[in-house]
Amino acid sequence: MAVTRTFSIIKPDATRRNLTGAVTAKLEEAGLRVVASRRIRMSQAQAEGFYGVHRERPFFADLCAFMVSGPVVVQVLEGENAVQRNRDVMGATNPANADAGTIRKELAESIEANSVHGSDSEENAATEIAYFFKPDEIVG
Ligand code: CMP
Repeated sequence: MAVTRTFSIIKPDATRRNLTGAVTAKLEEAGLRVVASRRIRMSQAQAEGFYGVHRERPFFADLCAFMVSGPVVVQVLEGENAVQRNRDVMGATNPANADAGTIRKELAESIEANSVHGSDSEENAATEIAYFFKPDEIVG
């Protein structure tokens, strides 16, 4: 299996509860390596651009408001089959539907305050990584 990269965000509900380390530990235990990481306060424009694919969804405004409500940690993760590996350890979008042992089952508060974002495809991973990181900021 090829070593690939994916993009992750530790969301404001997790940074607010001081769970950055707990989330990162779960990622590392799952075989992912953090090869870039930055704690930022996302701007409204950044949030709207990042989630642009959801612009027509009823939850779009609330989602963007939530993402700018506190610090987030944007990360690049590397590992074998990184996109799927990360999705497996994150668990289902709605923590109520997430499997035991996943980040969202153990740590998330709700479908909106669900602690982490992870890319859903290799193509989107490349786009999302480039949205926040320059190539020389990623050190594998
Ligand atoms: P994320 O993986 O960051 O991608 C889009 C986000 O929208 C998703 O996680 C959820 O946190 C959020 N969201 C809020 N409400 C909904 C909903 N009803 N269905 C799907 N995603 C939702």
